[in-house]
Amino acid sequence: MLVEKNVPLQHSNTFGIAARAHALVRVHSEDDVRAVLADPFWGRRPLLVLGGGSNIVLTGDVEPLVLKMEIQGMRVADETPTAWIVEAGAGERWHDLVAWTLDQGLPGLENLALIPGTVGASPVQNIGAYGVELQDRFDSLDAIDLVTGQGFTLDAAQCAFSYRDSVFKHVPAEPLGPRSAAPRGMGLAGRAVITRVRFALPKAWKPEIGYLDIERKRAEAGIERPTARQVFDWVCEIRRAKLPDPEVLGNAGSFFKNPTVTAEQCADIIAREPRIVHYPLADGSIKLAAGWLIDACGWKGKTMGKAGVYERQALVLVNRGDRHSDDASVTGGEVMTLARAIQTSVYERFGIRLEPEPVVV
Ligand code: EPU
Repeated sequence: MLVEKNVPLQHSNTFGIAARAHALVRVHSEDDVRAVLADPFWGRRPLLVLGGGSNIVLTGDVEPLVLKMEIQGMRVADETPTAWIVEAGAGERWHDLVAWTLDQGLPGLENLALIPGTVGASPVQNIGAYGVELQDRFDSLDAIDLVTGQGFTLDAAQCAFSYRDSVFKHVPAEPLGPRSAAPRGMGLAGRAVITRVRFALPKAWKPEIGYLDIERKRAEAGIERPTARQVFDWVCEIRRAKLPDPEVLGNAGSFFKNPTVTAEQCADIIAREPRIVHYPLADGSIKLAAGWLIDACGWKGKTMGKAGVYERQALVLVNRGDRHSDDASVTGGEVMTLARAIQTSVYERFGIRLEPEPVVV
């Protein structure tokens, strides 16, 4: 087992924050995880699992041992009467998987093109875009219990997916006994590492083109029923126009979740702000566009320290420093100071508390 010391993480987080890992192990297989857990020294220390670093804010150097997930592999693992089951290693880049499935003639993931990050991180926040969420294409995943070293498999119900949420974002409900089995169905944050994910891609595919931005592209192109490749291209074009490329301008995608309010709360806000962007949900509650709320508070394009609000989408906080420089890049502290200032002004104006999406370390 190779433990690297004092490892720069600037190129391992999409914000480009110049933090370091005190110690880091590159994980290429399930056995690599078990070797760490069996190690007399490292096996007893706190761990931080790092995928593509696209949903994380590093507020300082990382003291826990970093497990950098690099498990590779993509294959058609199985089929059911209705779906192809595609399996990918946790360390594969998400977008590479989307492109690979299309190359194999297996559509279904095209609406999720260009989302930064890795396959292993995708179930954690149930990634979603343009009318499709991961849970719509999910079959099962393999993970390892970080306390017992045992492998286990979870299906969709056990992952407890909801909007930008899963069992992996919740802390375990019971104290972590040294040898107790992972409490299935309860929180698994910090308790398990995802090693492989399987997706169910529908054999009877049809395009998901209900989202306004995609519908616009379809109408412009004058195509009634696009192919998966066309939807993929449109999603790439929409994202490139609206969202900054993390290689150029560091960011972690949407910084806040879109909040949900009751119909009464929404009516109250609409009375004051008739133009507010809102979407009624099946359960009667109403989802508000956080980007609109932040924009309405005048934040779009603003900068505080070296952290800024992207000028084309107010929900995205960006690195206005040099994301490739050690000392001129944004710090996690600057990002969080800006995030708190935004939360305060949205709360003061709308009475709504925005919840950050990335994990703050
Ligand atoms: N809006 C504004 N001003 C802004 C930003 C947005 O008025 O500065 C308005 C837009 O005009 C639109 C509405 O807000 O009417 C929603 O904007 P958009 O379609 O860009 O989507 P979003 O709700 O801001 C969500 C996801 C994105 C995902 C897109 C497309 C969340 C937190 N974000 O953004 O996901 O790509 O929908 O499906 O749910 C991510 O999670 O990192 C991410 C980029």
